Amino acid sequence: MAPFTVIGKRLISRLSLLAACAAAALFLVQCGGGGDATVFVKEPLPYSQDALAPFISADTMGFHYDKHYAGYVNNANRLIRGIGPAGNTPEAVIRMTAGDASRAAIFNNAAQAWNHAYFFKCLKPDGGGAPEGLLAEMIDASFGSFTDFKALFLTAAKDQFGSGWVWLVLDEGRLAVVAGANADTPLAHDLTPLFTVDVWEHAYYLDYQNRRVDFVKTVLDNLANWDFVAAQLEKAIPADEKVAADG
Ligand SMILES: [Fe+2]
Repeated sequence: MAPFTVIGKRLISRLSLLAACAAAALFLVQCGGGGDATVFVKEPLPYSQDALAPFISADTMGFHYDKHYAGYVNNANRLIRGIGPAGNTPEAVIRMTAGDASRAAIFNNAAQAWNHAYFFKCLKPDGGGAPEGLLAEMIDASFGSFTDFKALFLTAAKDQFGSGWVWLVLDEGRLAVVAGANADTPLAHDLTPLFTVDVWEHAYYLDYQNRRVDFVKTVLDNLANWDFVAAQLEKAIPADEKVAADG
């Protein structure tokens, strides 16, 4: 599969992570149940469908959650029948089908189910603003400033041709903005997802028509759940490296 487009990243010297900038080879995933065709679960929205209005309307969220996301979940469960016990979590299904053209339909639906569940968690009412703590520190170290990060993220959203996703990821101790087409996901490239915005037209067209960048800027300014993102970063950074970063 084609690698993510790496938009920008900078060494985080304070974390003393000296690994060379390896080409991204990813793999993303999500939780799952195992058993027969119920690996993918339609996760509940962490807010009501009208809670993000006026920035994302209840109409948009209703279609996005109940039609698009639900469709990916249902299709993924149907398509993985017979995939075997190794595909007992969404993450395992994604990793075992990434880059396999003969299993593209499984990967596309599995990754879309995972990406959407993650995306919805990246949003909250009264979100946005600037992150704090380690996340803010690593954004500054990686991109120069939060303003620079937002500019990079918006450029990535603008430049993503067609449907896809823009991500903030952790890559060997450094933050990076990456973009991927269609169902591509950090799990398929061994990157740790932190934050994402869905840039498929179904995510914004009812509210923003063709103004994709306005939609993404609105998410960053008003809906981004930096507390959730910071929690993912805390889980991903080993304790000894946090000490180094704080020292
Ligand atoms: Fe979507």
